[in-house]
Amino acid sequence: VRAGTWRQRGYADVAALVQERAGLVPPAHVETVEEGIDRAMVRAGLADLRAYRERLAREPELLDDLLVELTVGETYFFRTPEHFAFVRDVVLPEVAQRKGPGGTLVAWSAGCSSGEEAYSLALVLLEAGWGGRMRVLGTDVSRAALARARAATYGEWSLRGPEAGRMRPHLRAEGKRYVLDASLRERVELRYLNLATDRYPDPAAGLAEVDVLFCRNVLIYFDGPTITSVVRRFHDTLAPGGYLVPGPSDPSPAAHAPFEPVLADWGVVYRRRSNAQHALLPQPASRPQPLPQPLPLPRRAPSSPLPAPRPAPPGVPRLARPEPPPPALPSPPPRSSPDGGLHEAHAALRSGEWGRAARLAGTVAGGGDEAGAVLHVRAQANVDAAQAARTCAEALRRHPLSVELRHLYALLLLGQGRAGEAAAAARQALYLEPELVVGHLTLGLALRRAGDREGAARALRTAEALARRLSPDAAVPLAEGELAGALAEAAARQRALAEGAGG
Ligand SMILES: C[S@@+](CC[C@H](N)C(=O)[O-])C[C@H]1O[C@@H](n2cnc3c(N)ncnc32)[C@H](O)[C@@H]1O
Repeated sequence: VRAGTWRQRGYADVAALVQERAGLVPPAHVETVEEGIDRAMVRAGLADLRAYRERLAREPELLDDLLVELTVGETYFFRTPEHFAFVRDVVLPEVAQRKGPGGTLVAWSAGCSSGEEAYSLALVLLEAGWGGRMRVLGTDVSRAALARARAATYGEWSLRGPEAGRMRPHLRAEGKRYVLDASLRERVELRYLNLATDRYPDPAAGLAEVDVLFCRNVLIYFDGPTITSVVRRFHDTLAPGGYLVPGPSDPSPAAHAPFEPVLADWGVVYRRRSNAQHALLPQPASRPQPLPQPLPLPRRAPSSPLPAPRPAPPGVPRLARPEPPPPALPSPPPRSSPDGGLHEAHAALRSGEWGRAARLAGTVAGGGDEAGAVLHVRAQANVDAAQAARTCAEALRRHPLSVELRHLYALLLLGQGRAGEAAAAARQALYLEPELVVGHLTLGLALRRAGDREGAARALRTAEALARRLSPDAAVPLAEGELAGALAEAAARQRALAEGAGG
């Protein structure tokens, strides 16, 4: 939010106080913030911004009331259904094994809004037979949302998701509204909690040893320091082996606490390592990660999707780039150091010595270096694309959160005609980096190849829109030097093809 655009300085002061107390980054549109503040001031019976700010600083209830204006409470039953399937198929069996037959499962919906998420979790546990040994908590900073959650009376809008209908048998129609059965309602404990405070973990209040913590579409509202402190407290509130499930567009928690990322084909969840795993860091291999298995690749002639040094058509990222190494790379250090190896590998790649580049980068990658792994895959792609895909799948086990490797994998699969798998890999890259322009582009190309023209057009439209947000001559991340303007044009052309008769 740019201070210069506020109608009055007082609004900026109020927004600054909200950020200080709740870690909340105000919505990007100044007008939206100002209108929200205006409405909250009317409710507080005040017309003067300075007086309002002073009372805000002293009265937590007023701050809560304002937060309602500055966050969105949008939610619905069984939103992102994969997360609930994950609880049923992975979390419950693991907890059963860990805690034994008498153990109680604790689930927490942090930022539950009007309760749909917490009630969906409760239903999953009940259906799986955990009725006698479950606790489901729902917390939010919005007292208004909590009141709606307690009333548990919903409209059609709460049932709009693809799997929201699973809740219908537990809803009784009353006019145009639906009332949730008491049998489900009383399964969820609803409480006020501002996540930006240090009120958790709190064993005395039952906020500890949580087995599965849904905090979806909440972290996006927080500023950097608040994300860090919230994620650390989440980590400490989970039981060892417990899972944090963020929303698809939330920032990744892995950068802030020692979680073990667990990648499914629909996205990533984060597991608190068991104590034994902690002792083994940085090689916590006691439990296989449910990463996508690299399928055996058919041996074929090298068919890197877009081999270098042949210039790729605009908008289509190349795998190996005959370009100078990134500027961050230092001048060649001694030959024996990993950086030296990486530098030499870059030089070999530049001069077209792909076999040598692959060998050199492979040595660096073997030492656990992500940049080396990327280079290794790129170099191999020019020699044997099928082998490169295998190397890439292997590297992804060591670097599950590498967006670049994930995207490279999508490209390699696409180059081999494995469009469905390529689309899945591109989606995973986008899960990690929702605004990755080339990710949407690759997804679009893969979906088009797989025959999903509508999905392809959607992804390509997103790629174009994201690229157009940049200045036309701006470089685009992972686009191999391709500029935003050219990428946008390419995405538009590909979309026209996807929408056209030929698909
Ligand atoms: C978009 S809703 C998410 C609801 C649900 N988790 C979902 O994904 O469908 C965001 C919720 O986060 C809550 N929230 C925002 N800041 C918060 C804070 N500091 N502490 C607790 N909840 C907060 C809002 O009140 C709102 O109900």
